[in-house]
Amino acid sequence: MAGNIPLMIAGIGYCVPEAVITNEDLKKLYETSDEWIYTRTGIKERRVVSGNETAIDLGLKAAQNAILKANISTDEIDCIISASSVPPQLYPTLACTIQAKLGIKDTIPAFDMTAACTGLIYALQIARGFIGAGLYKTILIVAADNNSKITDWTDRGTSILFGDGAGAMVVKASVDGVDDILSLKISANGSIGQMIQTNMPSQCCPLVKQADEVGTGKIIMDGKEVYKFAVTTVPKYVEECIALSGLTAEEIDYLIPHQANQRIIESIQNRLKYTDDKVISNIRYYGNTSAASIPIALAEGVEQGKIKLGSTAVLCGFGAGMTWGGAVVRLREGIC
Ligand code: COA
Repeated sequence: MAGNIPLMIAGIGYCVPEAVITNEDLKKLYETSDEWIYTRTGIKERRVVSGNETAIDLGLKAAQNAILKANISTDEIDCIISASSVPPQLYPTLACTIQAKLGIKDTIPAFDMTAACTGLIYALQIARGFIGAGLYKTILIVAADNNSKITDWTDRGTSILFGDGAGAMVVKASVDGVDDILSLKISANGSIGQMIQTNMPSQCCPLVKQADEVGTGKIIMDGKEVYKFAVTTVPKYVEECIALSGLTAEEIDYLIPHQANQRIIESIQNRLKYTDDKVISNIRYYGNTSAASIPIALAEGVEQGKIKLGSTAVLCGFGAGMTWGGAVVRLREGIC
């Protein structure tokens, strides 16, 4: 427990856009094949926003679904945290926009924080601190990412991986004294941050010397290095999170990992010696939806009957920064 007041996960929701881009479709953009993409990543298709749709629309629907499941009124929400690495606009922030769209009149705090694909776990840690300290009672976390808008669609090494989507969680001061967070750890190493970069287009004041290079606003990634980082760092870290929870790996019901690459998921699965039914993977249909990937996998897993509630799960995320994090959580009945 981070403070004195335990936290309960009260509701989880998700939303993905309608438009589907299959591996076959990508052949219209560059030379590639379904076989190449699927064997290296486990991805068959991804969803992308189209027209005027943005991650804000997805985030709003995910938030509404989470609020419904939590069985609360929007008046009860006293803080909104958005965990988005790719919001469609820098400001007003995604959290402030969602606050307005939900019709929340109270001047509650609403802010965005970025920890890329680890965003949900970072936001959960912040919410845990806020609730634990008694600062807020009911926090809405929205993880909505618009990767397709900053993907370099000519780069076949990165554009095969990402998709758009949103997930949301309502967390509250626990009503029964039971803490749903059994352990939670977050970490970062900025010295290897160049592995995944998005440098925004910008300019200096026209009256001074301009920078040598101007950002493209697109994702630039050293896929091989990211892969090596993920398979060496994350499985070990997940074990540490499990040890912190006081449970053993066998006692935990599910692994719900960030959906970046099926082979990375399997490296964690192998370390924990989990059978396939304990591992939630939907990367085949959505690719990497950044911070949204864990809540989408969780809520959809419940919807499809792959996850039975009244259980425990280990969540883990990693991504740009580099950042990473893990949590062992209780999944109460009725949360999604
Ligand atoms: N289709 C066909 N060929 C492709 C291709 C594609 N979509 N993308 C790259 N290639 C080619 C390359 O040009 C290269 O050819 P060359 O040897 O003639 O130069 C060859 O395939 C191997 O490319 P490489 O980039 O070394 O492939 P890889 O085995 O490292 O796989 C990734 C690339 C991106 C799938 C893999 O590195 C990965 O998944 N990394 C993790 C990335 C990640 O998860 N990022 C998000 C973290 S949150």
